[in-house]
Amino acid sequence: MELLKILASEYGPSGREEKIRDTIIKYAKDITEDIKTDVLGNLIVHKKGNGKKVMVAAHMDEIGVIATVTDENGFIRFSPVGGLNNKDLIARRVVFENGVVGVIGSEEDNKDRKIAKMYIDIGAKNREEASEKVKTGDMAVFCGEFIDSGDTVISKALDNRAGCYVMLEAMKRINTENDLYFVFTSQEEVGLRGAKTAAYSIAPDYALAIDVTDTGDTPEGIKMEVKLGNGAAIKVMDRSILCDSYIRSVLIETAKKNNISYQLEIMNDGGTDAGAISLSGTGVKTGGISIPTRYIHSPSEMVSKKDLNSCIELLTAFVNNI
Ligand code: CO
Ligand code: ZN
Repeated sequence: MELLKILASEYGPSGREEKIRDTIIKYAKDITEDIKTDVLGNLIVHKKGNGKKVMVAAHMDEIGVIATVTDENGFIRFSPVGGLNNKDLIARRVVFENGVVGVIGSEEDNKDRKIAKMYIDIGAKNREEASEKVKTGDMAVFCGEFIDSGDTVISKALDNRAGCYVMLEAMKRINTENDLYFVFTSQEEVGLRGAKTAAYSIAPDYALAIDVTDTGDTPEGIKMEVKLGNGAAIKVMDRSILCDSYIRSVLIETAKKNNISYQLEIMNDGGTDAGAISLSGTGVKTGGISIPTRYIHSPSEMVSKKDLNSCIELLTAFVNNI
């Protein structure tokens, strides 16, 4: 889990993927020299072959907040970068790129909290002192230490560093003549932006997005088949896509043939890079492999190690056989 810990702990809100990208490059270099960063900041790792052109995407950005206005007393107003759960933000710690930590507070104490009424408190006495540390446009991410707790791991940013981890591990194992593009995408959390231009430039025959998905297994949880620990989730639908039925059936057959645990995913909340890729160019046959995750978009996202392995195995077998 050392690699996952390194990936999850790295700073990288949408649009500011430099650090996490540099970290991923270090590991991708062992696999191929053909690595480039495109205009939007996507990292494109190419393993050349003369078979089908396959694109596998995992976004490397994480959700965060962006400083907007600092008041006379040094309190910093902010906007969300990606889908924050407003009700869960009070007293959360966030950390800016330079290491400055703040606590999120709110003017109001009711249940439907609005971000417009919240602020980040970095302990500054006044505007001048705050502005030395945090400027308008600076971004912060959740503090959420990586915990290895036996069968599961808990951390901030497992959405989607867990997906990046699955892709890096699969890249080491894949052995095929297919022409492979592994894309660590930028700006997924603000609207699947990087994947859009990356897919256009690659124009693949087939594509897969690797990302996290919700689970339906917590008390009074959402109605969903996916359970933590029950295997790789094969995406059927999310808010951005109805997955290509051929890809979906190949994934299911591949899982069965190789004895890989799998479950079927219909995620009613949120989209993935799969949606943007499927609509690029003249259209791309696209599917998804998802990592079952509890408490998505919190500092304490939780995934199962068994599921991570199932996802690595399924991705490897799919790319080898498609
Ligand atoms: Co997300
Ligand atoms: Zn995600």
